[in-house]
Amino acid sequence: MSSSVRIPDGFLDELKARIRPSDVIGRKVKLTKKGKEWVGLSPFTNEKSPSFYVNDQKRIFKCFSSGMGGDVISFVMETERLSFMEAVEKLAEEAGMELPKADPQSAEVYDHRKRLQEVCEAAAAYYEDRLQSSDGAAAREYLEGRGLKPIAWKRHRLGFAPDDWHKTGAHLKQMGFTQDEILEAGLAKTSDRGGEPYDAFRGRLMFPIPDSRGGIIAFGGRGLTPDAKPKYLNSGDTPLFHKSRVLYRYKAAREALGHGDGGGLIVCEGYMDAIALTEAGFGQAVAPLGTALTEDQISLLWRAGPEPVLCFDGDRAGLGAAYRAIDRALPHVEPGRSLFFVLLPDGMDPDDLIRERGPAAMGEALDGRIALSELLWQRERDAEPLDTPERQAGLEARLMSAAAQIKHPGVKAAYERDLKARMRDHFWQIRQAKRKSSFTPGKGKGRGADTGSAGPAAVAQVQAAGRTRPGVLLLLQAVLNPSILSGMEELLIAADFRNEISNGLRDLIVDFLIEDEDLTLDAVLESMVRQGHEKEIAQIDVKKISNIRLTDPAYRSWKAAVEAFIPVDTTPTADDEVRRLKLKRRLVAERRKAFEERVLLDQQEKAMGKANIGDFWKQFEEQNPWFKGDTPGGS
Ligand code: UTP
Ligand code: MN
Repeated sequence: MSSSVRIPDGFLDELKARIRPSDVIGRKVKLTKKGKEWVGLSPFTNEKSPSFYVNDQKRIFKCFSSGMGGDVISFVMETERLSFMEAVEKLAEEAGMELPKADPQSAEVYDHRKRLQEVCEAAAAYYEDRLQSSDGAAAREYLEGRGLKPIAWKRHRLGFAPDDWHKTGAHLKQMGFTQDEILEAGLAKTSDRGGEPYDAFRGRLMFPIPDSRGGIIAFGGRGLTPDAKPKYLNSGDTPLFHKSRVLYRYKAAREALGHGDGGGLIVCEGYMDAIALTEAGFGQAVAPLGTALTEDQISLLWRAGPEPVLCFDGDRAGLGAAYRAIDRALPHVEPGRSLFFVLLPDGMDPDDLIRERGPAAMGEALDGRIALSELLWQRERDAEPLDTPERQAGLEARLMSAAAQIKHPGVKAAYERDLKARMRDHFWQIRQAKRKSSFTPGKGKGRGADTGSAGPAAVAQVQAAGRTRPGVLLLLQAVLNPSILSGMEELLIAADFRNEISNGLRDLIVDFLIEDEDLTLDAVLESMVRQGHEKEIAQIDVKKISNIRLTDPAYRSWKAAVEAFIPVDTTPTADDEVRRLKLKRRLVAERRKAFEERVLLDQQEKAMGKANIGDFWKQFEEQNPWFKGDTPGGS
């Protein structure tokens, strides 16, 4: 719809003149008058004392806690996560201004679509009403039986389509809609036998599907009995609705996600799952409409937040769906923009899990999400046995061809490094398991001297692996999972493990990093032995350590554990300083490279004509010279 509408000169000025910012903003933020301005708590941060200002004369808002500011259009864009055109359309409607139409033909299209949306809205209201009537007794019972209360029916606008061939159509016609409109909106079907068109949804529990602005554009209908065929019936594609481009609950979920600087939407497989998640407190839940996630849907997810979490039933089908999502997303991952995955336990879907084990169990499942790179690794690792060099080479080829799908050069390089490191670790483990006793340092009796007050889970985990110094174990873990070291270099240099062997190991790792050498357990242990730590090394149960794999949450505790070894006041030696500088120089060079790649990509995007928020602010500043320098990114 947006693309057919153009904004003529003066329209925006008129719009802004008609709308008082404190009216629109005051619906989202509780404002109190203070002199010429209105003040309230920032909707963008969790501030405790108000630093969010609205000025009706200047027609702007300014948020001192987040640094954001702008006019009423940018406020609506930010808080409702709408595009510029979407925000303008919404405000224009509120101001009673007709949106200008570019040409008569697009005006016609616009009117027609509006009409189709109106008939969908009327149907949704009718179905809601029927759910409350005597028609809806069985559907109400069904909903109660699934644990949904009337307040939730209302929230999701659930309804019931009467079990009748013409009742819905007759009602809509009585409201003034034509047969053609009803047909085109997907609410009726033409009869093969030349009779009257008949209602598309009959005797079903109805889920209205809103578009990204909240207007109803389609429906899903669930049969009430186990033998209903199909179990769910969805609207076919219509001029308003293309199911591959829509996510159920997208607008509401985006609003629930709010303004956090990380995270993203939760994607589940079905309507009932999205609703169950919302009712359990996970309002950022969406679902595709009975198909595998498409690229369009993935970009919708990224518009809402950088790291969406995809939940799949933990069965074979769920795993297959997760694997397919990897291939859809890989070409488009970018710095900080990816997917995470949750495979639910025991073949349950989110609705089952929440009902059987409660919202906390769902929360735990979400906390255990794994990164795209991890699932990709698991997929290829488990595809076939790795018992011959040919098969091992096959794994490498599969991993590298997966990485090659990534368009962003920096991310592609990072994937190649990460996957190769995982592969090396894995092959090392296989070899180790084979020769078993060559490096079997049995369980030592030596007591760890540095039982420093190390952080929680990771240390407990490694201590369980043998009675060795926590410092040594933490460091060996890093060797086994080199990816956790990225960004931790400074931390590592500053840590003092308070005994010679741990600090020796630390220095060794730092040297590996400086030289950009491959950090492998073999190489590190060999060096340690060369440095005379043979006895200590012999006490480590290498096999047990190598079985430990860090998942995200544990990774955080690894960091916490090492942080516990940072001395309160440090006077670094000259030697330390030199190494710190060397490492820093290397890191800076790496970051500069990543930055340059980023800039290059931005330029490509611009060349492709993609508008972005930066352009918006630039335009905004041009139109509002007095505001210059106050907009985000302005200087
Ligand atoms: P599922 O069959 O996994 O069911 O469908 P569910 O979501 O657990 O539903 P309940 O709990 O039995 O009510 C997942 C999604 O796949 C689509 C629907 O969008 C559904 O929400 N689907 C399923 C269809 O489109 N048609 C079908 O016949 C079945
Ligand atoms: Mn279900």
